[in-house]
Amino acid sequence: MKPIVVYQSKMGSSKQYAEWIAEAISCPVIERSQLKEVDWQSSDLIIYVAGIYVGKILGFKELLKQLGDLSQKRLVLCMVGMTDLKRKDEFQKFFEQNVPEDLQKKVRSFNLRGNIIYSKLGFLDRTLLQMPKMQFKNKTLEEAGLDNYFIEHFGEDVYYIEKNAINKVVDYYNDLEMRAKGI
Ligand SMILES: Cc1cc2nc3c(=O)[nH]c(=O)nc-3n(C[C@H](O)[C@H](O)[C@H](O)COP(=O)(O)O)c2cc1C
Repeated sequence: MKPIVVYQSKMGSSKQYAEWIAEAISCPVIERSQLKEVDWQSSDLIIYVAGIYVGKILGFKELLKQLGDLSQKRLVLCMVGMTDLKRKDEFQKFFEQNVPEDLQKKVRSFNLRGNIIYSKLGFLDRTLLQMPKMQFKNKTLEEAGLDNYFIEHFGEDVYYIEKNAINKVVDYYNDLEMRAKGI
């Protein structure tokens, strides 16, 4: 297989996960806005890593436009959010809201947990984040599936990224590789 990792990130979590994944599977990694600078067309596996902002996966709609016909490609979507990974129902909603229905069977998704770093946010995102009723789709923080640590430290930077979290993506890739080689 010929994979490429593409990311879009505001606070750096998705970028870090993208770099770790690319390093683990030895493939190129590129920011979505730079995609046209590289030969992604020859890749048959695109791994997209991006943050969730108010229920929206950053740049995913735009990525689909850039990629066009996906019939000869596999697409993996890594959604990076603050939601507790145990809340699979919440991530499933993000998936369904962001992935067009006709692609939902084709796209393989993974859930990852990111950081909040206030200094990396613009005014609008910072304001949104400080309006607990707004930023997680009009839900309270508890309803949105956020854990006590995040709630207690609300308004402060929080760090949830961890390298081992990429193992499930790497395992999936290794599995595809073995199948492609008929092992
Ligand atoms: C304005 C704003 C809205 C957010 N909305 C959500 C959300 O709806 N669901 C969620 O799980 N995380 C949400 N988050 C948390 C981010 O997804 C998380 O911090 C992630 O690490 C961002 O990715 P990045 O670091 O690559 O930019 C939000 C963060 C901000 C600043």
